[in-house]
Amino acid sequence: FQPKLLAGRRVVMTAGPTFEPIDPVRGITNSSSGKMAYGLARACVQAGAEVVLVSGPVALPVPMGAHRVSVRSALEMREAVLAAVPGSDVFIGVAAVADYRPAAAAEHKIKKSGAELAITLTPNPDILAEVAALPNPPFCVGFAAESRNLDEYAEGKRKAKKLPMVVGNLVQDGLGGDDNQVVLFDEAGRHPLPKAPKPEVARSIVAHLAALLPRN
Ligand code: C5P
Repeated sequence: FQPKLLAGRRVVMTAGPTFEPIDPVRGITNSSSGKMAYGLARACVQAGAEVVLVSGPVALPVPMGAHRVSVRSALEMREAVLAAVPGSDVFIGVAAVADYRPAAAAEHKIKKSGAELAITLTPNPDILAEVAALPNPPFCVGFAAESRNLDEYAEGKRKAKKLPMVVGNLVQDGLGGDDNQVVLFDEAGRHPLPKAPKPEVARSIVAHLAALLPRN
């Protein structure tokens, strides 16, 4: 018997990379398979939640029972998130949002020449920090994928973005693979989870955040 830890809860999540257009055929992106986010969406559905998955371009099927809103750029992702968040209990930012976008996308394909070409980049909004700063924010969970100093950076992000919970993982352990090893950070401290297949890690993350939610 699986207790429905998120019964009656509404969860909004971001997933995948964002794609920031340079011109109609080119863009800047991050590498993100979306596997962790989609696994987490599935675990939330299985825990009884209503799930809205705001997803950048990934090659994954929509988890059964989740509602996917497909977006491309960080600005589109932000719009979709702000539209979905009112009335939600939990927001989980898993997406690898591009930190910068080309200041202006060219209307037509840029033709090549022998000359150097510079692209001016402008910072993208931090979607998670913005949701966490809303007047009545949902319970906000962030992800921190780091290649070193995991504790320092993950806890630093948690404090900087004012999040009750952050999931930290060392990128050499996680990205793209089927297993993941993560450490959960919350007000009480750090909680390392054993290395496990992503679906199992997702269920542990759900159990941890469900225990921290205010009663409904
Ligand atoms: O600061 P950093 O990008 O490493 O923080 C990672 C966390 O913040 C992730 O949960 C990610 O989804 C979220 N984020 C966001 N919008 C951004 C950048 C990161 O929601 N522009």
